[in-house]
Amino acid sequence: MRKAIALLLSAWIALPMLADEGMWLLPLLKEQKIDEMKELGLKLQDYDIYSPEKASLKDAVVIFGGGCTGEVVSPDGLVLTNHHCGYDAIQTHSSVEHDYLTDGFWATTREQELPNEGLTVTFIDKIEDVTDYVKAELAKDTDPNSMNFLSPKFLNGLAKARVGEKFLQDNPGTEVEIVPIFDGNQYYMFTKKIYSDIRLVGAPPSAIGKFGADTDNWMWPRHTGDFSIFRIYADKNGNPAPYSKDNVPLRPKRWMKISIKGFDEGDFAMIMGFPGRTNHYYTSWEVAERRDIDNTVRIHIRELRQEAMLEEMLKDPKVRIQYASKYAGSENAYKNAIGSNWAINKRDFEAVKRAEQEALVAWGKQHNQPQYEEALSALQQMVSDRKELRFRKWMLDEALLRGVEFSRVPTQVDSLKAALQKGDKEKTKAQLDKLRTAFERFFDKDYAPDVDRKIAKVMLAEYRRLVDAASQPAYFSTIDSDYQGDVSAFVDELFRKSIYGSQENFEAFVSHPTIEALENDPMIQFALSVKAEQKALNKALQQFDDGYSRAHHTYVEGLMKMNDMADMWPDANFTLRLTYGQVKGYSPRDCAYYGCQTTLDGVMEKEDSTNWEFVVPKRLKELYNAKDFGPYGLENGKMPVALCATTHTTGGNSGSPVMNANGELIGINFDRNWEGVGGDIEYLPDYQRSIIVDIRYVLFLIDKYAGADYLIKEMDIVK
Ligand code: ARG
Ligand code: GLU
Repeated sequence: MRKAIALLLSAWIALPMLADEGMWLLPLLKEQKIDEMKELGLKLQDYDIYSPEKASLKDAVVIFGGGCTGEVVSPDGLVLTNHHCGYDAIQTHSSVEHDYLTDGFWATTREQELPNEGLTVTFIDKIEDVTDYVKAELAKDTDPNSMNFLSPKFLNGLAKARVGEKFLQDNPGTEVEIVPIFDGNQYYMFTKKIYSDIRLVGAPPSAIGKFGADTDNWMWPRHTGDFSIFRIYADKNGNPAPYSKDNVPLRPKRWMKISIKGFDEGDFAMIMGFPGRTNHYYTSWEVAERRDIDNTVRIHIRELRQEAMLEEMLKDPKVRIQYASKYAGSENAYKNAIGSNWAINKRDFEAVKRAEQEALVAWGKQHNQPQYEEALSALQQMVSDRKELRFRKWMLDEALLRGVEFSRVPTQVDSLKAALQKGDKEKTKAQLDKLRTAFERFFDKDYAPDVDRKIAKVMLAEYRRLVDAASQPAYFSTIDSDYQGDVSAFVDELFRKSIYGSQENFEAFVSHPTIEALENDPMIQFALSVKAEQKALNKALQQFDDGYSRAHHTYVEGLMKMNDMADMWPDANFTLRLTYGQVKGYSPRDCAYYGCQTTLDGVMEKEDSTNWEFVVPKRLKELYNAKDFGPYGLENGKMPVALCATTHTTGGNSGSPVMNANGELIGINFDRNWEGVGGDIEYLPDYQRSIIVDIRYVLFLIDKYAGADYLIKEMDIVK
């Protein structure tokens, strides 16, 4: 046994850093990876990619919305991202009459470009290592239990203090943020500029932008044209400003060149973007926890929720549009959780992480640093102690907070009650107007009460089956006491009685508002009870989570001391990163090999007019049959669609620019392969691939399919 471990250890320590693993911070490229990148074929210098002084490639890479990446591709502020990143915007502008999801959308003039409330594009102006500054500030804190070292509020306060109020006032749309990396062992400050007038310029129909939909999602070989186009608007001085007719297209510092010269298997490729979250520094116990609690609950609950949702969507075209975005979001994380568990088991991630832990314990012994072994025992203990609470939290989150939409009805009615109490007509009216706004935000155009009702019955029944009665929100006891345990009757009654149950109920309440109606409202009671349980759970978990975060900080500190920092990358945290590798296919299993490039032939092979996921638009078939590919086709006469590369990406990297050795755009990242979904925990070079829409397919669709060649004219195309 000893021997086996020793063998495992030496093998692990001797293993060279795998070339394609890692999400690297730009300021460290020069000391960490630039030489390896050049060996792989990169023709640029580090300062072409990132420079603190002058415009570089990084200035063309933006955060798109709240969770995607985009790239600027014209001097007039055009931004490319994925169709699934623009999906909310496209869906919001859609109705049964103007169905841009189904038909696509193309603005033929700037006046037709559609504004999007709430959508932003964020540039990263500056990145600084502020570790010394933050640590000096933290040292002033004498509370041994302080969690300031990870607190966004505390750290962002430090960021503001560092740049000063005046700087922020003088620079509209500018924000500063300090984020911990390596579990709070280092800190970086990001200065961001946020534009809030972002307009929809173009999107292909879903039959192209979402071709293959859920069946193909997280899968290679892939045939999706997953892109959409937006434009950034600014005020006359180029500063961020809220939407206004008078705003003008932004003249960006930098935009990307686009290459239609193509590439070969083995060519260098790199991606810049905003990967959201990885758990590379998990211990073996956290791997098991993720599998047995987080992923398992998610998979089970979403399966039930999606089944009920899809049934309604397929029945009614209006519901199909209303729930399209909700369904896609749910399904995406659901399938990811399945892939994650598959990898955890198949590739034995527990053993991989155990080997890392054991190496650190051995190193600690050698160097007389027992704190690392202690931190590991603490982690093991805490993961075990929080088991039951964590299960309850995941059940509450998935089944009730996400699963039941009416758990989010407006519950703040105290001011209205006070106004009614006093008989103050004017205040009552003002409060009722407020409540209407909140109600309309909940009961928006994408809310279908009958769908919520149906799903809620399924969610509540399953939640009650799996969670101890004593650990459920208190209000649930009425299901037994007043409804003989009949969940369905309970939910129907909620919809019948609540002021939020229907538009009519709400209007009836507004015309005769009473304190009793508010106090006895069953949906308000339901929502308050769920929230109370959420709060209690969070508080109970906090006990473990604080100690856990401190122990994890120590564990990662140990890894940083033991390993060569040139090869260490901090877990993703939605900050700007670079990953590099090669355009390359892979062998998913014995005897099978997947190439690195798909073509339109594959779209036609997958076509199935009886399955909504694989319908091919007529116009695309015409272009295919006529081989009318313009300058975008391959030498062999085929039309490229997607490619895959060994780059290390995760959620948030959607929409990220994929660049060749010259830093020219060759594609837009949009997904990862099934065999690589586990890469958030452990990157496997033989199995993991980024899935990328070929920029030539994007241009072909804009130019030939949509006839929007005026957009192509704005771009810088390298032939
Ligand atoms: N899996 C990709 C990502 O994580 C694409 C998601 C959009 N597509 C979908 N069918 N839901 O976001
Ligand atoms: N589709 C993901 C996104 O929206 C990227 C795929 C991945 O997780 O690698 O960011």
